[in-house]
Amino acid sequence: MVMPPANNLAITDRLNRPLHDLRISVTDRCNFRCVYCMPKSIFNKDYEFLKRDQILSWDNIVSVVQAAAPLGVRKIRLTGGEPLIRKDLENLIERIAIVDGIDDISMTTNAALLSRQRAESLKRSGLKRINVSLDAMDDKTFHVMNDMGVDVASVLQGIDNAAAAGIENVKVNMVVKAGLNDHSILPMAKHFHGTGQILRYIEFMDVGNSNSWDMKDVITSGQIAKIINAEMPIEPAEANYQGEVAKRWRYLDGGGEIGIISSVSEPFCGDCSRARLSATGSIYTCLFASQGHDLRAHLASGDNDALRDHLRQIWEVRSDRYSETRSQVVTFRPKVEMSFIGG
Ligand code: GTP
Ligand code: 5AD
Ligand code: SF4
Ligand code: SF4
Repeated sequence: MVMPPANNLAITDRLNRPLHDLRISVTDRCNFRCVYCMPKSIFNKDYEFLKRDQILSWDNIVSVVQAAAPLGVRKIRLTGGEPLIRKDLENLIERIAIVDGIDDISMTTNAALLSRQRAESLKRSGLKRINVSLDAMDDKTFHVMNDMGVDVASVLQGIDNAAAAGIENVKVNMVVKAGLNDHSILPMAKHFHGTGQILRYIEFMDVGNSNSWDMKDVITSGQIAKIINAEMPIEPAEANYQGEVAKRWRYLDGGGEIGIISSVSEPFCGDCSRARLSATGSIYTCLFASQGHDLRAHLASGDNDALRDHLRQIWEVRSDRYSETRSQVVTFRPKVEMSFIGG
Protein backbone atom coordinates (compact mmCIF):
# COMPACT_ATOMS: atom_id res chain seq x y z
CA MET A 1 0.00 0.00 0.00
CA VAL A 2 1.25 3.50 -0.82
CA MET A 3 1.44 5.59 2.35
CA PRO A 4 -0.21 9.02 2.13
CA PRO A 5 2.03 12.05 2.73
CA ALA A 6 2.62 12.78 6.40
CA ASN A 7 0.59 15.98 6.41
CA ASN A 8 -2.48 14.79 4.53
CA LEU A 9 -4.62 15.08 7.63
CA ALA A 10 -3.45 18.59 8.56
CA ILE A 11 -6.03 20.31 10.72
CA THR A 12 -7.00 23.80 11.85
CA ASP A 13 -8.80 25.09 14.93
CA ARG A 14 -11.89 27.32 15.10
CA LEU A 15 -9.76 30.39 14.44
CA ASN A 16 -8.21 28.72 11.42
CA ARG A 17 -4.84 28.12 13.11
CA PRO A 18 -2.96 24.98 12.10
CA LEU A 19 -1.33 22.61 14.58
CA HIS A 20 2.40 22.93 13.95
CA ASP A 21 4.34 22.74 17.22
CA LEU A 22 4.18 20.33 20.11
CA ARG A 23 5.87 21.37 23.36
CA ILE A 24 6.51 18.36 25.57
CA SER A 25 7.14 18.71 29.30
CA VAL A 26 9.21 15.80 30.58
CA THR A 27 9.26 16.77 34.27
CA ASP A 28 7.73 19.35 36.62
CA ARG A 29 10.94 19.50 38.68
CA CYS A 30 13.72 22.06 38.40
CA ASN A 31 17.09 22.80 39.98
CA PHE A 32 16.28 26.56 39.92
CA ARG A 33 13.62 28.48 41.80
CA CYS A 34 13.17 31.45 39.48
CA VAL A 35 11.07 34.03 41.26
CA TYR A 36 8.77 34.49 38.26
CA CYS A 37 8.21 30.76 37.79
CA MET A 38 8.77 28.60 40.91
CA PRO A 39 8.88 30.94 43.91
CA LYS A 40 10.26 29.17 46.99
CA SER A 41 7.30 30.28 49.08
CA ILE A 42 5.23 27.73 47.13
CA PHE A 43 7.72 25.33 45.53
CA ASN A 44 9.25 24.19 48.81
CA LYS A 45 9.57 20.87 50.65
CA ASP A 46 5.78 20.69 51.12
CA TYR A 47 5.06 21.03 47.40
CA GLU A 48 3.85 17.81 45.84
CA PHE A 49 5.81 17.22 42.68
CA LEU A 50 4.72 14.46 40.34
CA LYS A 51 5.61 10.93 41.34
CA ARG A 52 7.44 8.62 38.97
CA ASP A 53 4.32 6.57 38.24
CA GLN A 54 2.34 9.68 37.24
CA ILE A 55 4.80 10.52 34.48
CA LEU A 56 4.44 9.32 30.90
CA SER A 57 6.88 6.75 29.60
CA TRP A 58 8.99 7.54 26.55
CA ASP A 59 6.86 4.96 24.69
CA ASN A 60 3.77 7.01 25.45
CA ILE A 61 5.37 10.31 24.42
CA VAL A 62 6.55 8.80 21.14
CA SER A 63 2.99 7.55 20.52
CA VAL A 64 1.65 11.09 20.96
CA VAL A 65 4.25 12.46 18.53
CA GLN A 66 3.38 9.72 16.02
CA ALA A 67 -0.29 10.64 16.32
CA ALA A 68 0.37 14.38 16.07
CA ALA A 69 2.71 14.39 13.06
CA PRO A 70 0.07 13.43 10.48
CA LEU A 71 -2.10 16.28 11.82
CA GLY A 72 0.58 18.82 10.92
CA VAL A 73 3.10 18.85 13.80
CA ARG A 74 6.63 19.50 12.51
CA LYS A 75 8.40 21.04 15.51
CA ILE A 76 8.97 19.41 18.86
CA ARG A 77 10.27 21.33 21.86
CA LEU A 78 11.25 19.53 25.06
CA THR A 79 10.63 21.49 28.24
CA GLY A 80 10.18 20.93 31.96
CA GLY A 81 10.57 22.14 34.66
CA GLU A 82 14.15 21.50 33.71
CA PRO A 83 14.36 18.77 31.04
CA LEU A 84 18.04 17.96 31.70
CA ILE A 85 17.02 16.50 35.05
CA ARG A 86 15.83 13.48 33.04
CA LYS A 87 18.90 11.33 32.51
CA ASP A 88 17.80 9.36 29.46
CA LEU A 89 16.44 12.21 27.32
CA GLU A 90 18.73 11.15 24.49
CA ASN A 91 16.73 7.98 24.03
CA LEU A 92 13.50 9.97 23.68
CA ILE A 93 15.08 12.39 21.20
CA GLU A 94 16.42 9.55 19.05
CA ARG A 95 12.96 8.06 18.84
CA ILE A 96 11.21 11.36 18.07
CA ALA A 97 13.80 12.22 15.42
CA ILE A 98 12.76 9.29 13.23
CA VAL A 99 9.03 10.03 13.31
CA ASP A 100 7.89 10.84 9.78
CA GLY A 101 7.20 14.58 9.43
CA ILE A 102 9.19 15.85 12.43
CA ASP A 103 11.90 18.16 11.16
CA ASP A 104 12.92 20.18 14.22
CA ILE A 105 13.68 19.06 17.78
CA SER A 106 14.69 21.69 20.31
CA MET A 107 14.85 22.09 24.05
CA THR A 108 14.33 24.92 26.53
CA THR A 109 16.71 24.59 29.48
CA ASN A 110 18.52 26.57 32.16
CA ALA A 111 21.74 24.87 30.94
CA ALA A 112 23.29 24.60 34.41
CA LEU A 113 23.47 20.80 33.94
CA LEU A 114 24.69 21.00 30.35
CA SER A 115 28.17 19.51 30.48
CA ARG A 116 30.22 19.14 27.30
CA GLN A 117 29.62 15.40 27.35
CA ARG A 118 25.85 15.81 27.78
CA ALA A 119 25.71 18.39 24.99
CA GLU A 120 27.53 15.99 22.69
CA SER A 121 25.23 13.07 23.45
CA LEU A 122 22.17 15.28 22.97
CA LYS A 123 23.51 16.48 19.64
CA ARG A 124 24.21 12.90 18.57
CA SER A 125 20.68 11.88 19.47
CA GLY A 126 19.21 14.50 17.10
CA LEU A 127 18.68 17.65 19.17
CA LYS A 128 18.96 20.60 16.79
CA ARG A 129 18.55 23.72 18.90
CA ILE A 130 18.45 24.93 22.49
CA ASN A 131 16.99 28.00 24.15
CA VAL A 132 18.72 28.82 27.42
CA SER A 133 17.22 30.90 30.25
CA LEU A 134 19.56 33.54 31.68
CA ASP A 135 18.24 36.66 33.38
CA ALA A 136 21.34 38.70 34.26
CA MET A 137 25.07 39.08 33.63
CA ASP A 138 26.08 39.63 37.26
CA ASP A 139 25.84 37.01 39.97
CA LYS A 140 24.17 39.28 42.50
CA THR A 141 21.15 39.83 40.24
CA PHE A 142 21.15 36.30 38.85
CA HIS A 143 21.10 34.87 42.38
CA VAL A 144 18.01 36.96 43.13
CA MET A 145 16.35 35.64 39.97
CA ASN A 146 17.17 31.90 40.25
CA ASP A 147 17.11 31.86 44.08
CA MET A 148 19.39 28.83 44.23
CA GLY A 149 22.76 30.56 44.19
CA VAL A 150 23.55 29.45 40.64
CA ASP A 151 26.30 31.58 39.09
CA VAL A 152 26.13 33.20 35.65
CA ALA A 153 29.35 31.37 34.71
CA SER A 154 27.74 27.95 34.98
CA VAL A 155 25.02 28.93 32.48
CA LEU A 156 27.54 30.56 30.13
CA GLN A 157 29.59 27.36 30.34
CA GLY A 158 26.48 25.36 29.39
CA ILE A 159 25.93 27.64 26.38
CA ASP A 160 29.58 27.21 25.33
CA ASN A 161 29.29 23.45 25.74
CA ALA A 162 26.26 23.40 23.45
CA ALA A 163 28.06 25.45 20.82
CA ALA A 164 31.20 23.29 21.08
CA ALA A 165 29.06 20.19 20.58
CA GLY A 166 27.70 21.67 17.36
CA ILE A 167 24.22 22.54 18.56
CA GLU A 168 23.53 25.51 16.31
CA ASN A 169 21.27 28.44 16.96
CA VAL A 170 21.58 28.83 20.70
CA LYS A 171 19.04 31.41 21.86
CA VAL A 172 19.10 33.04 25.28
CA ASN A 173 15.85 33.88 27.10
CA MET A 174 15.81 36.74 29.60
CA VAL A 175 12.59 37.31 31.53
CA VAL A 176 12.51 40.97 32.55
CA LYS A 177 10.92 41.83 35.87
CA ALA A 178 10.74 45.50 36.86
CA GLY A 179 12.95 46.48 39.77
CA LEU A 180 14.69 43.09 39.84
CA ASN A 181 16.71 42.72 36.65
CA ASP A 182 15.74 45.54 34.28
CA HIS A 183 19.15 47.09 34.90
CA SER A 184 20.56 44.00 33.16
CA ILE A 185 18.84 44.73 29.82
CA LEU A 186 21.86 46.57 28.40
CA PRO A 187 24.64 44.43 29.93
CA MET A 188 22.94 41.35 28.47
CA ALA A 189 22.66 43.01 25.04
CA LYS A 190 26.33 43.99 25.14
CA HIS A 191 27.45 40.51 26.12
CA PHE A 192 25.57 38.71 23.33
CA HIS A 193 26.04 41.38 20.63
CA GLY A 194 28.19 39.93 17.85
CA THR A 195 28.24 36.39 19.28
CA GLY A 196 25.65 34.86 16.96
CA GLN A 197 23.72 33.80 20.05
CA ILE A 198 20.30 35.43 19.86
CA LEU A 199 19.18 37.14 23.05
CA ARG A 200 15.40 37.34 23.52
CA TYR A 201 13.79 39.56 26.12
CA ILE A 202 10.55 38.20 27.55
CA GLU A 203 7.82 40.26 29.16
CA PHE A 204 6.98 38.90 32.61
CA MET A 205 3.76 36.92 32.09
CA ASP A 206 0.82 36.05 34.33
CA VAL A 207 1.30 32.30 33.91
CA GLY A 208 0.01 30.05 36.68
CA ASN A 209 -1.22 31.19 40.07
CA SER A 210 2.01 31.34 42.04
CA ASN A 211 4.19 34.13 40.69
CA SER A 212 2.29 37.14 42.16
CA TRP A 213 2.10 38.72 38.73
CA ASP A 214 1.30 42.41 38.60
CA MET A 215 1.19 44.64 35.52
CA LYS A 216 3.44 47.13 37.29
CA ASP A 217 6.23 44.52 37.22
CA VAL A 218 6.10 44.25 33.43
CA ILE A 219 8.65 46.13 31.34
CA THR A 220 6.96 46.21 27.95
CA SER A 221 8.56 45.31 24.64
CA GLY A 222 8.33 48.98 23.62
CA GLN A 223 10.29 50.04 26.69
CA ILE A 224 12.87 47.31 26.17
CA ALA A 225 13.42 48.24 22.51
CA LYS A 226 13.79 51.90 23.49
CA ILE A 227 16.41 51.17 26.15
CA ILE A 228 18.49 49.14 23.71
CA ASN A 229 18.02 51.45 20.76
CA ALA A 230 19.29 54.43 22.77
CA GLU A 231 22.72 52.80 23.11
CA MET A 232 22.84 50.19 20.38
CA PRO A 233 20.63 51.23 17.46
CA ILE A 234 18.26 48.54 16.14
CA GLU A 235 15.67 48.22 13.39
CA PRO A 236 12.80 45.73 13.00
CA ALA A 237 13.54 42.56 11.03
CA GLU A 238 11.21 40.17 9.22
CA ALA A 239 9.87 37.15 11.10
CA ASN A 240 11.65 33.89 10.28
CA TYR A 241 8.34 32.07 9.96
CA GLN A 242 4.67 32.72 10.51
CA GLY A 243 3.77 32.35 14.16
CA GLU A 244 7.23 33.14 15.51
CA VAL A 245 6.80 34.11 19.14
CA ALA A 246 9.66 36.63 19.25
CA LYS A 247 9.63 39.87 17.24
CA ARG A 248 13.07 40.24 15.67
CA TRP A 249 15.25 43.36 15.78
CA ARG A 250 18.55 43.80 13.95
CA TYR A 251 21.54 45.84 15.17
CA LEU A 252 22.36 48.54 12.63
CA ASP A 253 26.08 47.95 13.14
CA GLY A 254 25.89 44.35 11.90
CA GLY A 255 26.18 42.84 15.40
CA GLY A 256 23.36 40.39 14.80
CA GLU A 257 19.85 40.40 16.17
CA ILE A 258 17.73 40.30 19.31
CA GLY A 259 14.16 39.15 19.88
CA ILE A 260 11.41 40.49 22.12
CA ILE A 261 8.54 38.30 23.28
CA SER A 262 5.58 40.47 24.20
CA SER A 263 2.76 38.24 25.28
CA VAL A 264 1.41 41.01 27.51
CA SER A 265 1.67 44.24 25.50
CA GLU A 266 1.41 42.77 21.97
CA PRO A 267 -0.18 39.32 22.11
CA PHE A 268 0.45 36.88 19.29
CA CYS A 269 -2.49 34.47 19.67
CA GLY A 270 -3.63 35.04 16.08
CA ASP A 271 -0.81 32.80 14.83
CA CYS A 272 -0.65 30.38 17.74
CA SER A 273 -0.10 26.87 16.42
CA ARG A 274 1.29 25.32 19.61
CA ALA A 275 -0.09 22.43 21.64
CA ARG A 276 1.46 21.38 24.92
CA LEU A 277 1.77 17.91 26.41
CA SER A 278 2.19 17.70 30.18
CA ALA A 279 4.44 15.10 31.78
CA THR A 280 1.24 13.46 33.05
CA GLY A 281 -0.17 12.93 29.54
CA SER A 282 -2.61 15.80 29.11
CA ILE A 283 -2.83 18.11 26.12
CA TYR A 284 -3.19 21.82 26.84
CA THR A 285 -4.28 24.04 23.97
CA CYS A 286 -3.10 27.24 25.68
CA LEU A 287 -0.30 28.18 28.07
CA PHE A 288 -2.94 29.81 30.26
CA ALA A 289 -5.45 26.97 30.24
CA SER A 290 -7.07 25.76 33.43
CA GLN A 291 -7.37 22.19 32.30
CA GLY A 292 -5.87 19.75 29.86
CA HIS A 293 -7.32 16.86 27.89
CA ASP A 294 -6.20 13.57 29.40
CA LEU A 295 -4.77 11.20 26.77
CA ARG A 296 -3.93 8.34 29.10
CA ALA A 297 -6.97 6.16 28.34
CA HIS A 298 -6.16 6.34 24.63
CA LEU A 299 -2.50 5.65 25.32
CA ALA A 300 -3.36 2.64 27.44
CA SER A 301 -5.60 1.21 24.71
CA GLY A 302 -2.67 1.21 22.27
CA ASP A 303 -4.99 2.35 19.44
CA ASN A 304 -2.90 4.95 17.62
CA ASP A 305 -5.62 5.87 15.11
CA ALA A 306 -8.04 6.59 17.94
CA LEU A 307 -5.37 8.69 19.65
CA ARG A 308 -4.85 10.71 16.47
CA ASP A 309 -8.61 11.24 16.07
CA HIS A 310 -8.86 12.34 19.67
CA LEU A 311 -6.08 14.89 19.13
CA ARG A 312 -7.84 16.14 16.03
CA GLN A 313 -11.10 16.59 17.92
CA ILE A 314 -9.32 18.52 20.67
CA TRP A 315 -7.65 20.88 18.19
CA GLU A 316 -10.65 21.41 15.93
CA VAL A 317 -12.77 22.91 18.73
CA ARG A 318 -9.95 25.06 20.08
CA SER A 319 -10.59 28.81 20.29
CA ASP A 320 -8.04 29.89 22.95
CA ARG A 321 -6.62 33.40 22.76
CA TYR A 322 -5.91 34.18 26.38
CA SER A 323 -3.26 36.86 25.88
CA GLU A 324 -5.55 38.84 23.62
CA THR A 325 -8.36 38.76 26.14
CA ARG A 326 -6.54 38.90 29.48
CA SER A 327 -7.61 42.46 30.23
CA GLN A 328 -11.26 41.35 29.96
CA VAL A 329 -10.82 38.41 32.33
CA VAL A 330 -12.43 39.56 35.54
CA THR A 331 -13.17 36.41 37.50
CA PHE A 332 -10.36 34.33 38.96
CA ARG A 333 -9.78 30.94 37.40
CA PRO A 334 -6.88 28.66 38.18
CA LYS A 335 -4.25 28.36 35.46
CA VAL A 336 -1.76 25.63 34.84
CA GLU A 337 1.67 26.29 36.39
CA MET A 338 4.58 27.23 34.13
CA SER A 339 6.85 24.58 35.67
CA PHE A 340 4.18 21.96 34.96
CA ILE A 341 3.55 22.87 31.33
CA GLY A 342 6.97 24.20 30.31
CA GLY A 343 6.27 27.65 28.92
P1 GTP B 1 11.62 29.05 19.06
O1 GTP B 1 11.07 30.31 18.49
O2 GTP B 1 11.18 27.81 18.36
O3 GTP B 1 13.10 29.08 19.24
O4 GTP B 1 11.04 28.84 20.55
P2 GTP B 1 10.09 29.68 21.50
O5 GTP B 1 10.57 31.04 21.67
O6 GTP B 1 8.69 29.50 21.03
O7 GTP B 1 10.25 28.82 22.88
P3 GTP B 1 10.84 29.14 24.32
O8 GTP B 1 10.60 27.91 25.13
O9 GTP B 1 12.23 29.63 24.25
O10 GTP B 1 9.89 30.26 24.86
C1 GTP B 1 10.25 31.62 24.96
C2 GTP B 1 9.17 32.36 25.73
O11 GTP B 1 8.00 32.45 24.93
C3 GTP B 1 8.75 31.69 27.05
O12 GTP B 1 8.52 32.68 28.02
C4 GTP B 1 7.48 31.00 26.68
O13 GTP B 1 6.65 30.83 27.79
C5 GTP B 1 6.91 32.00 25.68
N1 GTP B 1 5.97 31.34 24.80
C6 GTP B 1 6.22 30.31 23.94
N2 GTP B 1 5.10 29.95 23.30
C7 GTP B 1 4.13 30.78 23.78
C8 GTP B 1 2.74 30.89 23.54
O14 GTP B 1 2.16 30.15 22.75
N3 GTP B 1 2.05 31.84 24.23
C9 GTP B 1 2.66 32.67 25.10
N4 GTP B 1 1.90 33.57 25.72
N5 GTP B 1 3.97 32.58 25.38
C10 GTP B 1 4.68 31.65 24.73
N1 5AD C 1 6.88 35.04 32.25
C1 5AD C 1 7.63 34.98 31.12
N2 5AD C 1 8.48 33.97 30.85
C2 5AD C 1 8.60 33.01 31.76
N3 5AD C 1 9.36 31.90 31.78
C3 5AD C 1 9.10 31.23 32.93
N4 5AD C 1 8.19 31.89 33.66
C4 5AD C 1 7.85 33.00 32.96
C5 5AD C 1 6.96 34.08 33.19
N5 5AD C 1 6.21 34.16 34.28
C6 5AD C 1 10.30 31.56 30.72
C7 5AD C 1 11.59 30.95 31.20
C8 5AD C 1 12.01 30.04 30.08
C9 5AD C 1 10.76 29.83 29.27
C10 5AD C 1 10.32 28.43 29.15
O1 5AD C 1 9.74 30.56 29.92
O2 5AD C 1 12.57 31.88 31.45
O3 5AD C 1 13.00 30.63 29.28
FE1 SF4 D 1 13.25 26.26 36.31
FE2 SF4 D 1 12.97 27.41 33.92
FE3 SF4 D 1 11.11 27.77 35.82
FE4 SF4 D 1 13.51 28.88 36.11
S1 SF4 D 1 12.02 29.34 34.48
S2 SF4 D 1 12.37 27.75 37.70
S3 SF4 D 1 14.85 27.39 35.17
S4 SF4 D 1 11.60 25.84 34.84
FE1 SF4 E 1 -1.33 30.59 22.19
FE2 SF4 E 1 -2.60 30.83 24.52
FE3 SF4 E 1 -0.16 31.92 24.13
FE4 SF4 E 1 -2.33 32.97 22.93
S1 SF4 E 1 -1.91 32.90 25.11
S2 SF4 E 1 -0.31 32.60 22.00
S3 SF4 E 1 -3.49 31.08 22.50
S4 SF4 E 1 -0.68 29.73 24.13
